Amino acid sequence: MRTFHLASVLWTSRRTVLPISITGTIIISICVYLSFWSSYVGRLHTRPKGFTEVSNDSRKSSVLNAFVENLKAGTIGSGLGGEIRTTQLVAYPDESEVALPAWRQYINEFSTKVELYNPDRPYLSKLLRDLATVEINQTSILHLGTQFKFQIEFVDGNIAIAKPMRVERNYYSPYDTKGSYLRDFERHTAEIAAFHLDRILDFRRVTPCAGRALNFRRDILQKTKDPDILGTQRVKDGNQCIIGSCHPKFCNEQALTCAKNGTLEVALCQKVPDAANMQSRGYPWRSTNRKKPEEIALICQNLKKDKFVQENGFFLDFMETLVFDHLQVNYDRHNYKKLNNKDSTSIGIALLDNGKGFGNPLKDDITFLTPIKECCRFRNSTYQRMLQLTKDDSKLGDRMRASLSKDPLNPVLTEDFFPALDRRLNQAVDALNECISQFGYDTVFSELE
Ligand SMILES: *[C@@H]1O[C@H](CO)[C@@H](O)[C@H](O)[C@H]1NC(C)=O
Ligand SMILES: *[C@@H]1O[C@H](CO)[C@@H](O)[C@H](O)[C@H]1NC(C)=O
Ligand SMILES: *[C@@H]1O[C@H](CO)[C@@H](O)[C@H](O)[C@H]1NC(C)=O
Ligand SMILES: *[C@@H]1O[C@H](CO)[C@@H](O)[C@H](O)[C@H]1NC(C)=O
Repeated sequence: MRTFHLASVLWTSRRTVLPISITGTIIISICVYLSFWSSYVGRLHTRPKGFTEVSNDSRKSSVLNAFVENLKAGTIGSGLGGEIRTTQLVAYPDESEVALPAWRQYINEFSTKVELYNPDRPYLSKLLRDLATVEINQTSILHLGTQFKFQIEFVDGNIAIAKPMRVERNYYSPYDTKGSYLRDFERHTAEIAAFHLDRILDFRRVTPCAGRALNFRRDILQKTKDPDILGTQRVKDGNQCIIGSCHPKFCNEQALTCAKNGTLEVALCQKVPDAANMQSRGYPWRSTNRKKPEEIALICQNLKKDKFVQENGFFLDFMETLVFDHLQVNYDRHNYKKLNNKDSTSIGIALLDNGKGFGNPLKDDITFLTPIKECCRFRNSTYQRMLQLTKDDSKLGDRMRASLSKDPLNPVLTEDFFPALDRRLNQAVDALNECISQFGYDTVFSELE
């Protein structure tokens, strides 16, 4: 903010200065220079606590010297642009990292990115820590979708969507009939695991999620005015419960959401900033597991021809999503979000709602991979990463176990899931290798499509 203010002062002056005569330009420029100098000196003295000094004295003076040189040379306009850029690039990120809460840094950077997070930025680990620890200010039920969700507001101003624990970690969905997943409760652990999986695969399409054991009384009952919480309280087996409010199949007297010994586990997933301009769209491989190969081949052909998919370069993103859902065995992908950040030059997809994945580590379903074998097009860098994750010293299962061990709800997944991830990854690599032997490396792989 402070740096931008400085920049905007200079930009404005540059725009108004240019049309005026040379003499006028010099006089006004000197005034601007003086105000620049005094605001600069002022900034040094009014810096709030927590501000780190990033520009050292020689850089400061080099900025000022260049400014004076430009004044002398009469190239004030062009010279200024360059200097402002340097000032912003050098000073802005570190200043904001120290002074702003993690979620604000996240939002500030969000509008120019088409990814849901950047694993290399320092805000990410802080954001996850904050989701898991910052005091809760307000809790309410979020009426969105069919299953139980809270909206949680924190005292630092951040907002997250919380999915409560509904089933035990060692309960595995039977998947005994096609479509039986529709009756499953969402798993809070699946949301957390999907984020970690997305991060390891470097897709950046899942919003950051952290686990947290909420104090049922302090964090929920005492932080709400929501009648759907306060008015639906029950006691079951000595535990506090609520019916809450969602689709009657998932919120009823038999399907209570209950604390255990006073705590309720939830997955807290960062609310996607409004800047994302998200649009929901139908997912092309929806219910693919129930389609015949010849029908899937048609989806491939149509997708390749689809103007919307072509224009936005989504084809390979969708191929990666198949691998992502195969690894989790997530049958419930029915839509995706198109991200259309207003300051961004490109467009991306987001995969929210992963609560139906990670339901049974003992049942793989290679029908997820049928479209991969039918289309035989894939992003090279992702294939390389997948190969890396099959190697003994960096196995996907081990990477997931290590990554999830940092979550407060560790163990997030039962141990059965880690070999399952390795097995399923090998199945996906095998499918791609079949493509390579059929069509050749150069036909199968590219980066953009
Ligand atoms: C200070 O800035 C100068 C010029 O940009 C740079 O060469 C030098 O390494 C910097 N010193 C420190 C301690 O950052
Ligand atoms: C906390 O919630 C109260 C209402 O319960 C609201 O007035 C206040 O602004 C909130 N504080 C923050 C920091 O969001
Ligand atoms: C219940 O919680 C209390 C305090 O939070 C703890 O001391 C106790 O061990 C817990 N009991 C069980 C069965 O987890
Ligand atoms: C795929 O990536 C590998 C490793 O970076 C590279 O050696 C290979 O040439 C790439 N192939 C294609 C078709 O892009």
